[in-house]
Amino acid sequence: METCALTFESRGEFAVSKIAIKEDIFWVGIKDPDRELFDGLMPLPQGTTYNAYLVVGSEKTALIDTCEPEFINELTANLEGVDQIDYIVSHHAEQDHSGSIPLLLERYPESTLLCIQKNKDMLQTLLTIPDDRIQVIEDGGEVSLGNKTIRFEHFPWVHWPETTLTYIPEDKVLFPCDFLGSHYCWDNLFAGDDPVVYKGALEYYVQIMMLYSTMTAKHLDRLKEFDLEFICPSHGSVYDKPQIILDLYEKWMRDPPENKVLIPYVSAHGSTEIMAKHLGKALEKRGVDVELKNLIGLSLNELADDLIDASTIVLGSSVIMAALHPLAVYTAFLLDRLKPKAKFAALIGSYGWSPNPLKKADELFPSWKVELVGNVLSKGHPGDDTLAELDELADEIVAKHREVGLF
Ligand code: FEO
Repeated sequence: METCALTFESRGEFAVSKIAIKEDIFWVGIKDPDRELFDGLMPLPQGTTYNAYLVVGSEKTALIDTCEPEFINELTANLEGVDQIDYIVSHHAEQDHSGSIPLLLERYPESTLLCIQKNKDMLQTLLTIPDDRIQVIEDGGEVSLGNKTIRFEHFPWVHWPETTLTYIPEDKVLFPCDFLGSHYCWDNLFAGDDPVVYKGALEYYVQIMMLYSTMTAKHLDRLKEFDLEFICPSHGSVYDKPQIILDLYEKWMRDPPENKVLIPYVSAHGSTEIMAKHLGKALEKRGVDVELKNLIGLSLNELADDLIDASTIVLGSSVIMAALHPLAVYTAFLLDRLKPKAKFAALIGSYGWSPNPLKKADELFPSWKVELVGNVLSKGHPGDDTLAELDELADEIVAKHREVGLF
């Protein structure tokens, strides 16, 4: 990390380990390349970062967000030489950004925590922070650092209810917290046109933001009012070409799904796999794009592209222990919670002696608004009758795609 000396008439001279984004705005966060899972769920093949930013105004200095508490020493090392932090800005109470706040308030006893009321309530639920160290800022409120202003904007549900963005109008720099971020432990802070960054941003969107896409789309419209040079999220790269990520979010959230069927399946002895592949070929013959995904060893990240644009999802499962295979149950649960754009779903699979688990397709998705268009069961190895039923399912899917204008 680069180290340099900065001089300010009002603050004296200090050295700070940093990466400069704009004049007197620095990344001072943490790189965590070895973390394997986020929330014990999301795969992090490229690690992640907990981005914190130092904003040095002519009169006051602010630290924007913190990090997991286990990295407090690295964060304070990055701040070495900064003898005074006037404000610690909190966007979001989740501990990967807030967890070090109590320790930082101890180390910088003159500092005040700035946040909106909703965030204050949540922070004090999760952490020990005394009232007298917190200054509540109204939605739309501003705090002056002298020659820089920090404006607070409440953007609920990207992805918690208290999530706040901050904006520095003098520099056209936005700090959108988790919104627009990626789990990507970069070598180069700035995203530029790097496709790896935007692939990570897509996986992040699908797993964290897609569930709230209705709300998030409204927030994206709000961002059109901001003049932006840099977008500095809480994870991953800083966007030095902000329009790229904004256009991608527009596409991910608002483009209608395509004439495409995703078939995630798990097969114990090959029968369900035969069914999945037969259905896939039948659909392709009818002009539908198909993505077959064997769930064994599959990462959630590997479904991200297809969850964005498939119109139909057909889940394939064997019956194991008189129930759906656990990988199919897990996938159904994630589909129900993540709520992809697909309008239609079906269940196919084979059983040995009990068809009942495969007959419960209508119980698979209690909260995802999706129309069930088929449920094809095979006793053991699929025979001609089953293959004919799969052809009929392909016809039904094509009819549904035609209804919504995909043919
Ligand atoms: Fe990166 Fe919602 O915390």
